[in-house]
Amino acid sequence: MNRKVTVVGGAGNVGATVARSIAEKELADVVIVDIADQKAAGVALDILEACPIIGSDSRVIGGSDYSQTANSDVVVITSGVPRKPGMSRDDLLNVNFNIMKAVTAEVIKYSPNAIIVPVANPLDAMCQAVYRLSGFPRERVIGMAGVLDSARMRTFIAMELNVSVDNVHAFVLGGHGDTMVPLPRYSTVAGIPITELLPADRIKAICERTANGGAEITKLVGTSAWYAPGAAAADMVEAILKDTKTIQPCSVFLQGEYGIKDLFVGVPVKLGARGVEQIIEIKLTAEEEAALKKSAGAVKELTDVIGV
Ligand code: NAI
Ligand code: 2OP
Repeated sequence: MNRKVTVVGGAGNVGATVARSIAEKELADVVIVDIADQKAAGVALDILEACPIIGSDSRVIGGSDYSQTANSDVVVITSGVPRKPGMSRDDLLNVNFNIMKAVTAEVIKYSPNAIIVPVANPLDAMCQAVYRLSGFPRERVIGMAGVLDSARMRTFIAMELNVSVDNVHAFVLGGHGDTMVPLPRYSTVAGIPITELLPADRIKAICERTANGGAEITKLVGTSAWYAPGAAAADMVEAILKDTKTIQPCSVFLQGEYGIKDLFVGVPVKLGARGVEQIIEIKLTAEEEAALKKSAGAVKELTDVIGV
């Protein structure tokens, strides 16, 4: 392959799932980096040994040595402590900020032209940390959360209406936390807004389940989700490497868009070879705008704590 994707934290649940998905889709060679050196090597070898079965020529290697990551096209950062039952995403703030400091220095040393996709929580604050620490332009730091949150919302809409998920589009904006903003008006089934298909109480229930989607899995499994998050991050990597110009909700550094300045918040963006190629501004009602501002305020509280 002539493309390379590094997954930092790739020996863990989300990272290994991202790495496997990229190799399965034969998008690039994959380098798994993790402080758990042996485990990284083992996970990489396991994925590599699956490649003959799935028919992929991706090369997958792993370890703790960043020199192998040199000149990566995309670097996904999943290194971080996951949420345990009863723990909020925000509890993770300081632990994961220190991890971002350590890994960002290595990432930019070896791959100064990469596009970075942070995944670690609290997502928007960690994106802002990586953005400030890297000094990269805002187009090249793109957080994964909205793709996951909107996939969850799509799942719940499809279940409710007993239709194919293929027919369902959903948009979730805002920070990846309890204040996220599912947008029913822009969520459609075969092009029809769900506000015309479902009663208000069912829509409210879907929105609440979406906002609590991470906690729901954590309660059931005992640690946070990895299959859907891994698929979501791999989907973003695919859009970047294939230059698809797909519009996805991602956490990006806003500079006045949606009336929000100097803060990472989830909004619809066009993803392509240059990373964020456009920030799409959709018209919001006063209520939706207030919810987005409230969510941005929650992100700002965290970025203020860590001073990024
Ligand atoms: P995990 O514990 O399974 O994996 C984390 C990995 O990071 C471990 O293998 C660990 O050894 C590694 N690591 C820790 N410090 C490191 C360092 N300094 N350098 C390199 N590697 C290091 O955790 P999991 O479940 O994979 O979650 C990872 C992160 O992703 C968590 O912060 C979690 O909250 C977040 N997450 C975010 C989602 C989102 O929507 N943005 C969704 C799901 C998880
Ligand atoms: C999730 O939404 C915990 O952020 C993680 O699954």
